[in-house]
Amino acid sequence: MTTPAFGDVVTDDIRRAYDAVDYDYASYPQTHPDRIATVAALFGVDTPPLATARVLEVGCGTGANILPIAARWPESRVVGFDLAPRPVDAGRAIIRDLGLTNIDLRVADLRELPAELGDFDYIIAHGFYSWVPDPVRDALLALIASRLSPQGVAMVSYNALPGSRVRQIGWDAMNFRTRNTTDAAARLRQAREILALMAEQGTSQSPRDSALRAELGESATRTDSALMHDDMAVPNEPFYFHEFMARAAGHGLNYLGDTDVRMMTPSGLSPNVRKFITRFDRLEAEQYLDFARLRRFRNTLLTRAGSTTNFAMQTSRVRAMQVAIASPLVQSMEEAEHAGKPRDSVLAPLDPSVAALARWLIARAPQTASFAEIAAWRNQHTPTDPRTPEALVSGMYVAGVVALYTDPAPVVSIAGPRPAVLPFVRRLAESQHLVPNQRHEAVNLHDPAMRTLVRLMDGTRDHAALLAGLGPSYPHGKEGLDAALRFFARVGLLVG
Ligand SMILES: C[S@@+](CC[C@H](N)C(=O)[O-])C[C@H]1O[C@@H](n2cnc3c(N)ncnc32)[C@H](O)[C@@H]1O
Repeated sequence: MTTPAFGDVVTDDIRRAYDAVDYDYASYPQTHPDRIATVAALFGVDTPPLATARVLEVGCGTGANILPIAARWPESRVVGFDLAPRPVDAGRAIIRDLGLTNIDLRVADLRELPAELGDFDYIIAHGFYSWVPDPVRDALLALIASRLSPQGVAMVSYNALPGSRVRQIGWDAMNFRTRNTTDAAARLRQAREILALMAEQGTSQSPRDSALRAELGESATRTDSALMHDDMAVPNEPFYFHEFMARAAGHGLNYLGDTDVRMMTPSGLSPNVRKFITRFDRLEAEQYLDFARLRRFRNTLLTRAGSTTNFAMQTSRVRAMQVAIASPLVQSMEEAEHAGKPRDSVLAPLDPSVAALARWLIARAPQTASFAEIAAWRNQHTPTDPRTPEALVSGMYVAGVVALYTDPAPVVSIAGPRPAVLPFVRRLAESQHLVPNQRHEAVNLHDPAMRTLVRLMDGTRDHAALLAGLGPSYPHGKEGLDAALRFFARVGLLVG
């Protein structure tokens, strides 16, 4: 018998860890082919059409991230694979129940993917690169280089430096505390114990440590899934952007951009940083931006395609896109409200035309507006604004005020007489509390009554029937139901 290579021993441990402790597989908007196609178009790369796309996800677990993609575009072909049999089996059962025939989940090691699967237009590797041994990282880049269609784009996320050095303090402490413990529950207990101790304020060598201690305390409250499979995972290796790109370039892969275009620019940084980065080419400039932002995580887009614009942003492309208020901005407004500040205070730093357009988009959220509607709004409400509508929209995009979509899924902003969510959302709500909305964002339905309600909303029940379906033990009555429906509408879950 041959001794397994180091990478294989680590891979066996990874397989066991995911089979032992459930991981909260969920949808990530930054991995969605619509997001990838949108960013690619802005940088002059025309990706294959979404409706017939071939999509591959590496480390897909239950398929929670790709199932909505297959359900949205029946003519697409979606493949996911993962080492761990338990989540893949759970995902297959869901796919069977939904009768989806264009998605295939497999138990496989990345290094043994059969060649007959062919090429893919969108390859997604989220939460993978930092958490696998080095030979598997290389195999991932080789797979992308060999299986990506000529105009295809891959998204690879990883823990980034320099910011991950801060988190590494907690990771190291947890791994030291648990080094002799194998039982998963005991490991989690010990990990939280050491984080809580480190969070206690006391005499430090530096008074500046208090922010760090507060962060360690927050880490102790992370879910079992996040602590076990993210923070305490072995390996869990962060990389500098330049290191990652040197390796990708070694496989013939080009940098296309980041799924968060704002991060490619000095948006929100000081004039000194803006001036400094003008000295460098775009890759080096982005590395300096990571230093300036203390960046912790990256979602990097890779391609083999050439760009028609030398990867400079082509603002005219926004004409074909749909525009929505950016979810992180809405979240900041909610946080402001919780902190007792006016929601509108978040818009205060924006210039008046941008703030007015943002308010208009907030009022119609979660629905999008076409570029033509934005142009008409601008002509009516801010006719003296010297910016073209293209400059206005792309500026708001780069500033993180709006999100852009190529082919957004339809949503309704008010519950109809027979409220509806899509069948895959109802099915996912049976087994998990994180469900995808129509923008591919994960909505946390931690209240079991909310999950029951979602399961009932197949478009056949009116409001009275929904209330009856919640049963006599539901304590909040009609008012609670109305609030829940408003919440579902606001977070983009409703299609009827
Ligand atoms: C941190 S999880 C990320 C899961 C999901 N993509 C996400 O972002 O939430 C990493 C996943 O990769 C899988 N995995 C690790 N090594 C693998 C390999 N060599 N081949 C296939 N899957 C692997 C694990 O089983 C696990 O499901």
